[in-house]
Amino acid sequence: MNTLFLSAQKQEDVEQAGEILRRGGLVAVPTETVYGLAANALDGEAVKKIFEAKGRPQDNPLIVHISSMEELEPLVETVPEKARLLAKHCWPGPLTMIFKKSDKIPREVSTGLDTVGIRMPCHPAALAVIRAAGVPLAAPSANTSGKPSPTTAQHVKEDMQGKIDAILDGGECAVGVESTVVDMVADPPRILRPGGITREQLQAVLGEVVVDQAVYSEPKPGEKVRAPGMKYRHYAPQAPVLLFGGAPEASAEAISHSLQPGDGVLCFEEYRGRFSNGRRTVLSYGLSWDKQAQAQELFSALRAFDHTPCKRILAQAPRPFGEGFAVSNRIKKAAGFHLQPSADYIVVGVTGSSGSGKSTVSALLRESGWASLDADLVYHQLLENDRSLINRLADAFPGCVQNGKVSREVLGEDVFGDEASLETLNALTHPSVMRELRRRIRVLAEMGCKKLVLDVPLLYQSGLDRLCDYVIGVTAEPERAIDRIISRDGVAVEKARRRLMNQPQEDYYAQRCEILLHNTGTKEELREKLAAAMRPDHAPAE
Ligand code: TXA
Ligand code: MG
Repeated sequence: MNTLFLSAQKQEDVEQAGEILRRGGLVAVPTETVYGLAANALDGEAVKKIFEAKGRPQDNPLIVHISSMEELEPLVETVPEKARLLAKHCWPGPLTMIFKKSDKIPREVSTGLDTVGIRMPCHPAALAVIRAAGVPLAAPSANTSGKPSPTTAQHVKEDMQGKIDAILDGGECAVGVESTVVDMVADPPRILRPGGITREQLQAVLGEVVVDQAVYSEPKPGEKVRAPGMKYRHYAPQAPVLLFGGAPEASAEAISHSLQPGDGVLCFEEYRGRFSNGRRTVLSYGLSWDKQAQAQELFSALRAFDHTPCKRILAQAPRPFGEGFAVSNRIKKAAGFHLQPSADYIVVGVTGSSGSGKSTVSALLRESGWASLDADLVYHQLLENDRSLINRLADAFPGCVQNGKVSREVLGEDVFGDEASLETLNALTHPSVMRELRRRIRVLAEMGCKKLVLDVPLLYQSGLDRLCDYVIGVTAEPERAIDRIISRDGVAVEKARRRLMNQPQEDYYAQRCEILLHNTGTKEELREKLAAAMRPDHAPAE
């Protein structure tokens, strides 16, 4: 079959895609998650061809894509109230809801189930094609079954050229992992596949939401699964994937110890340099905290390994929070759910602006048995005792060492408002603090402390986030934070305000931290929020 290449930029190409679909053909279509392989969802014969082109198991149902709420009603038996609410918040977008199906859905789509998954994508080209076709579109991801889903038209071409009628090129997919599949027939609603809409977003709208066991582990032979697709080997490059969990620094070290000739590495951006040696294939999939980048890059990276002679892929596992939950699920599936822990303890970072209450959070964790380390204190101790650091500071900042002691006042004045000096200071001090904290973490772990909390004001700026399995960010209203700085440090209001203004704002923490706690004042409330955020199914071991 000759596969046509069409452009989503051209109206006539979109029209042609619609025409092919109406005639019962197959077109690969861009969506915001991954490319879909579409056919007319109301035409059983057309849908059959999808299974042939993909080599898809016959018992794995397809998602039906719609472009408006009016299209939903005829396809399903009823629309539960909670589904209506969720549609209002998340559609169009990367969410698939499972409903009881109506007679309009052919058995080829639902593969014998009495339910159907429906999604309203938000990619303009996907919506335009559904409208041009004039029918709902059944579309699984446009990859050969078992391979990573395609996030570019080129990926689709690799798998589907010659097997389908057309590929509509709409550029790179923005989300990069598939939609979240939520069973709305179940009560409480059940996540069958984590995806572009996070569990936290669903909970904010629905309250209680549960996560199906199939998300965490492979089903046992013969076990009945709610999401048929979850039982198959998926997302797998040709080479086996060995996945290392834990804090980025710990997993990088574990990978270094396990590396053999011929291995490739899939790592966080921070570690690309450490693993590159001119011969080895080293691919990164974003900074360790950047779940959006990881989602965008993961499938592309897994596919890229197939163009290399790598015998094994040693990979750093992402933090399974927010969008990272979906990324973690995909890479674990690629690794057959084998996740090697990199340490026998966990380290949680606590950070936030001055006066936000991060020390209160550390204290709360200590009350429930965690050992804590204060990075500021360690820094001050190093300035007093670490001769080699003191000598290097004396060289870089003449005058800051008097009678063998570092004057923090002089140092502060030297770097105040001077980017280059501050960078020099950080380049000297951060590695020393990192080294000392790693040493203390190891000592504490050997003494039997398996749960450690790191209290660090400039956690990301210092790179100490890399020592953490995950990070709690504490935020507070600026006025409250200023009050706390004044009463704690005895400084004037203007100085407290200036200090706070020079620190990152709430969105900085919201983007990076795995758990965000908003401190409104009382310790009791903070305790409750912390307990809820750290409940067992949120823990990194999943
Ligand atoms: O983002 C996405 O969802 C992409 C784009 C193209 O929309 N589509 C996609 O489809 O990922 P597919 O077929 O690769 O994955 C659909 C998943 C499978 O795990 C399937 O088993 C599950 O959804 N699913 C579909 N219908 C279902 C149903 N009625 N009950 C339970 N699970 C269902
Ligand atoms: Mg798929």
